[in-house]
Amino acid sequence: MAIVSLRGIGKSFRIPSVRRDTVREHVFGLLHPRRFEELRVLDGVDLDVRAGETLGIMGRNGSGKSTLLKIVSGIYQPDRGEVRVAAAVTPILELGVGWNPELNAIDNIYLIGSVMGLALSEIRSAIDEILSFADLERFANLELRHYSSGMAARLAYSVAFKAVREILVLDEIFAVGDAGFRARCHQRYRELSAAGHTVILVSHEPYTIASFCHRAVLLEGGRIAMDDRAERVAEAYLRLLGGAAPAVPAPA
Ligand SMILES: Nc1ncnc2c1ncn2[C@@H]1O[C@H](COP(=O)(O)OP(=O)(O)OP(=O)(O)O)[C@@H](O)[C@H]1O
Ligand SMILES: [Mg+2]
Repeated sequence: MAIVSLRGIGKSFRIPSVRRDTVREHVFGLLHPRRFEELRVLDGVDLDVRAGETLGIMGRNGSGKSTLLKIVSGIYQPDRGEVRVAAAVTPILELGVGWNPELNAIDNIYLIGSVMGLALSEIRSAIDEILSFADLERFANLELRHYSSGMAARLAYSVAFKAVREILVLDEIFAVGDAGFRARCHQRYRELSAAGHTVILVSHEPYTIASFCHRAVLLEGGRIAMDDRAERVAEAYLRLLGGAAPAVPAPA
């Protein structure tokens, strides 16, 4: 049975037009109202995700992956189409959203943990584990504004992993984490999947998608251009990017 079902999803954004070719036109342009054009990001996306499935989403920068995750998480409404999500979603999307830079890590864990639905007692007993998963024990009392982007990302993932409800929707931005942290995240995905959670994972890394996901889709031109076994989609993604496809390992 599908736990997430999308039918005919369309989403466009209005973006400012840029056609000011000369300095003169630019200066006069400042006096005129800005013009906008429509950017059609999703254009008829149909997708069913079964309960307990791990689905990968791949596609170039700007192909609409994060937009799709925001629609599944209820952060964006689609312009067209139907969204049916039959269980609670925990999104890990934009790192840092909702965090208070003036507070230290521990206070932020309380803040974000409670926003994500954890009880105070649950947070209190999980603090050590959260800091240890993120490898940030030494920085527990440092205000977040002094964190590096990688440290902030590790903390955000670590809190969200503690608070996962039925469906985990994850926009993986692993450029920020180091190899040790990546390995811990991969291990956590496997644990969540083994515990029966449904996971929807956006990643640019063919290896992550092929080794972790059962199935994957490729977003291209606003639609699902491919929906197949994860390692096949990972290979197609590499071909799409123009490189010869290196061998992608079969799932463990
Ligand atoms: N709120 C917004 N307003 C205007 N344009 C937006 C908005 N959100 C997204 N877009 C545009 O929609 C397109 C798709 O963005 P999206 O973030 O979904 O891409 P993505 O596939 O996640 O890319 P990446 O691989 O870089 O993360 C981009 O061109 C982006 O500029
Ligand atoms: Mg994105």
